[in-house]
Amino acid sequence: MNIVIIGTGYVGLVSGVCYAEMGHNVVCVDHDANKIDSLNLGESTIFEPGLNEMMSRNVRSGRLSFSTKTIESVRNAEIVFIAVGTPPLPSGQANLNYVFKAAENIGESLSKYTIVAVKSTVPVGSNDVVEQIISSKFSGDFCVVSLPEFLREGSAIEDTFHPDRIIIGIDNNDERTKEQLKNFYAPLNVPMVFTDRKSSEMIKYASNAFLATKISFINEIANICEKLGANVEEVAYGMGLDNRIGMSFLKAGIGYGGSCFPKDTEALIQIAGNVEHEFKLLRSVVEVNQYQRMKILTKLKNSLGSLEGKEIGIWGLSFKPGTDDIRETPAIEIIDRILDHGGLVKVYDPIAMDNFKKVMDRPNIKWCSSSLRASENCDALCVITEWPEFKYIDLMKLKSIMRRPIIIDGRNIYSDHEIKEAGFDYFPVGKKASRTSGDIFHIQGGEI
Ligand SMILES: NC(=O)c1ccc[n+]([C@@H]2O[C@H](COP(=O)([O-])OP(=O)(O)OC[C@H]3O[C@@H](n4cnc5c(N)ncnc54)[C@H](O)[C@@H]3O)[C@@H](O)[C@H]2O)c1
Repeated sequence: MNIVIIGTGYVGLVSGVCYAEMGHNVVCVDHDANKIDSLNLGESTIFEPGLNEMMSRNVRSGRLSFSTKTIESVRNAEIVFIAVGTPPLPSGQANLNYVFKAAENIGESLSKYTIVAVKSTVPVGSNDVVEQIISSKFSGDFCVVSLPEFLREGSAIEDTFHPDRIIIGIDNNDERTKEQLKNFYAPLNVPMVFTDRKSSEMIKYASNAFLATKISFINEIANICEKLGANVEEVAYGMGLDNRIGMSFLKAGIGYGGSCFPKDTEALIQIAGNVEHEFKLLRSVVEVNQYQRMKILTKLKNSLGSLEGKEIGIWGLSFKPGTDDIRETPAIEIIDRILDHGGLVKVYDPIAMDNFKKVMDRPNIKWCSSSLRASENCDALCVITEWPEFKYIDLMKLKSIMRRPIIIDGRNIYSDHEIKEAGFDYFPVGKKASRTSGDIFHIQGGEI
């Protein structure tokens, strides 16, 4: 099929590359000319494992191309996917300007029956507006479908080829569109759920809100475990074996970040508020997440006393491993607070340093070329992102280069055994802290 993707960011680029790999002719469109220039030079604009090779292969085969020209590209398409951003407005509501602009551009370009499939995460009812915008520009036949995206950065290719399900929201029982989409996704051999557009839009928000709830729930359990001397990892394992609960999203840490959970939870609170329903549970989920980020600072302060003049190593900047995405990463707020309290930070991330430099322009940050460099002479080290290379570091060597052997582990990457053997003062999440000497630190409850 001839496929066009409007918006060539994390979702659009990965989807475009994967659809070309499935044998379709794909044009990825973006209004950012610099992005399209880089892609045309063969340089991927995002880090995603396996993406570069697959992209080059499909460009060489002639199935994949990149363009800034919506009208030319859309004219021959059978399916046009909208994958533009829906970032949060200051109120928390999703900004739909990009989606509506894309709809306008598509309306101006259509010349024959075409499916317009909206992958962008949009509030319930938005696709009705997309339909109105297109029909104000094009009087022929077309069908707007809600096709929410569930890929995860870091495993986006795997998720595109092997999703748990594909949700397709179509109104008016449009059989022709249904058949075409069934054919398009048939090679993936996964469950397809056909529903109405509004329910489809809600499935996306409800799924993300539920996953965020699981994370905040286990983080609250972790906070109680810390006080009672229980071990949240044992608790999560014991809970997860229950099929009704499941193992996933029960890893305690410093809370969720990224481009989806924070904005989608806020947006769902707004969506509910718009119909005069106060989503109390989700408000608490967001509040717990905010508190969880700050706990790493409480632990720092409790272990070091004042942060004034202290050197703090920061391992990991992206919101999770496997991506260079730093949108809503906890690292931003944590580093900001350390600097506000007079600390100096040394940071390292294997992939996300360049992106992070663009948003964090403050003095007293030293950008380091390796994890060991970022720990040299440090008074404490904070693990923010669980990149595998941090887990497999030589702990003895690490201890020998730090000024004080203190690790605040926001991701529980080390076992108690290895930490004890290496002789660190160690502050994990939801487990007992271990100290080489009980006398050095005065541990108390206060918050920074
Ligand atoms: N990133 C994820 O992991 C993920 C997962 C599932 C769903 N989503 C949703 O998918 C959507 C896209 O997310 P993303 O992370 O890929 O965003 P992104 O910011 O990485 O990419 C969006 C792209 O759209 C382009 N764009 C905006 N308006 C345009 C227009 N009118 N014409 C052409 N290009 C235009 C931008 O230049 C940008 O390159 C969002 O609604 C998001 O919530 C994202």
